[in-house]
Amino acid sequence: MPLVSSLELIRKASQEKKAIPAFNIHNLETIQAVVEGAAELDSPVIIQSTPGTLKHAGIEYIAAIVKEASKKYNIPIALHMDHCPSFDTIVSCIKNGYTSVMIDGAQYEYDENVALVKSVVKMAHAVGVQVEGEIGKIGGVEDDMFINEADASFTVPDEAKKFVDDTGIDTLAVAIGTAHGMYKGEPKLDFERIIEIESLVDVPLVLHGASGVPDESVKKAIKLGMAKINIATELKNPMVAAIREVIKNPEENDPRNYMGAARDAVREVVKNKIRLCNTVGFAAEFRK
Ligand code: 13P
Repeated sequence: MPLVSSLELIRKASQEKKAIPAFNIHNLETIQAVVEGAAELDSPVIIQSTPGTLKHAGIEYIAAIVKEASKKYNIPIALHMDHCPSFDTIVSCIKNGYTSVMIDGAQYEYDENVALVKSVVKMAHAVGVQVEGEIGKIGGVEDDMFINEADASFTVPDEAKKFVDDTGIDTLAVAIGTAHGMYKGEPKLDFERIIEIESLVDVPLVLHGASGVPDESVKKAIKLGMAKINIATELKNPMVAAIREVIKNPEENDPRNYMGAARDAVREVVKNKIRLCNTVGFAAEFRK
């Protein structure tokens, strides 16, 4: 199947109180793990890259691998750019076939943030690409981005509505108690805030920082309106653990062995997250 629009997947999931799992990938093996896991469970999936991953692997390589993977399997796959602060990088993503992008203007004051997001929306919509925006500040570490607890701030529901209206974004990432990276204690999600935001805005909501959030909390967040669930760290940890295990043998020097083990480990986590998002078999809905 050719790459599909993220929004089409997310909207349909939202109607059925499901969520589309969105996995951050870094290289060939992590892309394979995500696509193989999704194909095995016949689930739609969003594959996403951060600016750091594009710097590491090259946008052309990432886009080409994902497009080939998509051709190989009969499931809907969207290619999304995650947390991108740069208009120009978003243009390159679109030129390389990304089907949605997240413009992250969190470092700016409200008006400047809106101006940046609006400019991306105008450009992206002209070529049929959807845009995710964020209001409030999700804390934690992702890529080269670090927002400490004191600087993180929850999304204010009225401001969320105004931000969606002012920018024309298609999906909204909200800060409701999750953070990027693993948690020291158990994260407490503000479910009341999700309900309030959901009642005010008419675009699907996105949950960032899902790694380490208890399954029951993720399920509840999905029931309340989170329609895209972002997962990064929970793929990285088993990957490195699998590599460490294989290279315990000092004679081991074959990348196919340690990267193969890493791919197997990541695929299992991907499948668990797909089950959590309740999208097993959901790919069939997009083949009708
Ligand atoms: P985690 O690393 O906590 O899973 O966060 C992923 C994310 O939100 C990507 O944008």
